[in-house]
Amino acid sequence: MNTDEIMHLALELSGFTEVPGDSGTWYPGANIRRVLVGIDAGPAELKIAKDLGFDLLIAHHPVERAGFWKVFLRQVDFLKEAGMGEAEALQVIDERLEALKLQAHVTNNDHVPSVARLLGMPFMNLHVPLDEIGRRTVRARVDALLAANPSATVGELVDDLEQMDPFNRAATRIEVPYGRRANRAGRVVVGMAAATNGGFPVARALFEHGVDTVLYMHIAPEDLKKLRESGLRGSLVVVGHIAGDSLGLDAFVRALRQRGLEVVTFSGIDTPEM
Ligand SMILES: [Fe+2]
Ligand SMILES: [Fe+2]
Repeated sequence: MNTDEIMHLALELSGFTEVPGDSGTWYPGANIRRVLVGIDAGPAELKIAKDLGFDLLIAHHPVERAGFWKVFLRQVDFLKEAGMGEAEALQVIDERLEALKLQAHVTNNDHVPSVARLLGMPFMNLHVPLDEIGRRTVRARVDALLAANPSATVGELVDDLEQMDPFNRAATRIEVPYGRRANRAGRVVVGMAAATNGGFPVARALFEHGVDTVLYMHIAPEDLKKLRESGLRGSLVVVGHIAGDSLGLDAFVRALRQRGLEVVTFSGIDTPEM
């Protein structure tokens, strides 16, 4: 395979029609047989991949931040799912969106890609497409549980997710930092695959619009504090960052292996051979 084919595979599996702003091919390659895949990769990992004879290094997390904010606009979809209009939804995310735009001016965006070019090391990163595979998997699992048991509690939802691979072998447990396990799961929004979590503003807007349970990969302590001070009706479930990322990455690694590539995983990913 070449890097174009691998990018197309990621887009196809996640339902994207073009390369999103948080992903890219930073140095193309062809005749790829051995691939190294991890959550985080920078200059050191590029050199290691080169020294170990890999044909391609794939990172999950973005290596340049110029287009990252565009992916945060996906939060609008979650807010619309709860019945909000586009303009109202944009207002909810306004402050964070601006912070992400400003961050694009701060970051030295070409640092890691420039190292890949210097080394001549094929390198790409796949962020939101793989998170979207993970989001759809969690969504399907939640829908199946609620179809079987419409009055399932948050605790039952958490226990069900905990049985899923890779949550059942993750270093962290799925938690309910806001609300109670005894609450009804009810209307659930799986707030994953939108650059980063929507923090307090998105969770508040969802709860105010009748969503009972919000799922995030993670939440910052200051956002959780605001949520607790708000006293809003609702529950927040956090599945864990690396565990949540593993979900989509494992699926992608398996797809590459099915196509005959030798894939070694590192940096938070440990995809069992089938
Ligand atoms: Fe992710
Ligand atoms: Fe991540």
